[in-house]
Amino acid sequence: MSAEESHENGRPEPNFRPSSEPHIEVRSLQKNFGETKVLTDVNMSIGRGHIAVIIGGSGAGKTTLLRILIGLERPSSGSVIVSGQDMAKMSDRELNRARRKFGMVFQYSALLDSMNVLDNVAFPLREHTKQAEKDIRKQVTEKLNSLGLENIEGRFPSQLSGGMRKRVALARALMLEPEIIMYDEPTSGLDPVTSRMVDDLVVETRKNFGVTSVIISHDMLGALQIADEIYLLSKGRIVASGSPEELLKGEKNPLLKQFLESSGVTEMSSVKHKGELSQ
Ligand SMILES: Nc1ncnc2c1ncn2[C@@H]1O[C@H](COP(=O)(O)OP(=O)(O)OP(=O)(O)O)[C@@H](O)[C@H]1O
Ligand SMILES: [Mg+2]
Repeated sequence: MSAEESHENGRPEPNFRPSSEPHIEVRSLQKNFGETKVLTDVNMSIGRGHIAVIIGGSGAGKTTLLRILIGLERPSSGSVIVSGQDMAKMSDRELNRARRKFGMVFQYSALLDSMNVLDNVAFPLREHTKQAEKDIRKQVTEKLNSLGLENIEGRFPSQLSGGMRKRVALARALMLEPEIIMYDEPTSGLDPVTSRMVDDLVVETRKNFGVTSVIISHDMLGALQIADEIYLLSKGRIVASGSPEELLKGEKNPLLKQFLESSGVTEMSSVKHKGELSQ
């Protein structure tokens, strides 16, 4: 039995090595809204502990796919298998329980402005557990500290920088110890320097908490730096997928080429290593 399997709730141990064992599998997924086909024949296999980036232009179907992955929306056909369980076959009640496996970091952090940091981060614990206030506060402080935030429990979101808000949102998403963290456009609205800090935070979080990460993004440059696998979504279809290295080799694919070029990755063939992209 591997270390991953031996962990009681199926979560891998911190500081583990990512594995190719699939954690999330999407098979022949289709989603229609009335006559409109929004997702067509989407197939994905995201390894446990991997960082997967789903990238695509506006209207490509990214948010719809994310909502299906976390069980907020049901597919029209096809399946979403998480840790071997098919979410599409679950009853509403089972689906509600399965949703606890996911932590969400929403676009623009989505912190509640009227609540201070303590109350924002404590929110999931107060909603889903019956723990004593003293224990809740302790866990909030521990989680904030583990993300490099100290003594900010009393501050309001408006008193934080964009990067700090992201960390607070991440602390909140991690409170129920999810197996999978979903980030919706984590770098949109941030300057390039803060965007790279958020990318680093995603990588750190994977290392420290052993989570599988799924990122919805427009940011190809960031994706190439941190992803284990990238899925390029266009008009509801995956038009290219693979590791950053594989994608950079796929310049014959016109849609991929266009996306890489519009993201400023122009001299693709001269780029050999991920790290060189930032230079
Ligand atoms: N509930 C719905 N009913 C009907 N059509 C919908 C619904 N939700 C999404 N769509 C349509 O599905 C398509 C994909 O939408 P989606 O929000 O998933 O795109 P997106 O890739 O997240 O775009 P953006 O980058 O602008 O957020 C769009 O054409 C949208 O109009
Ligand atoms: Mg969207």
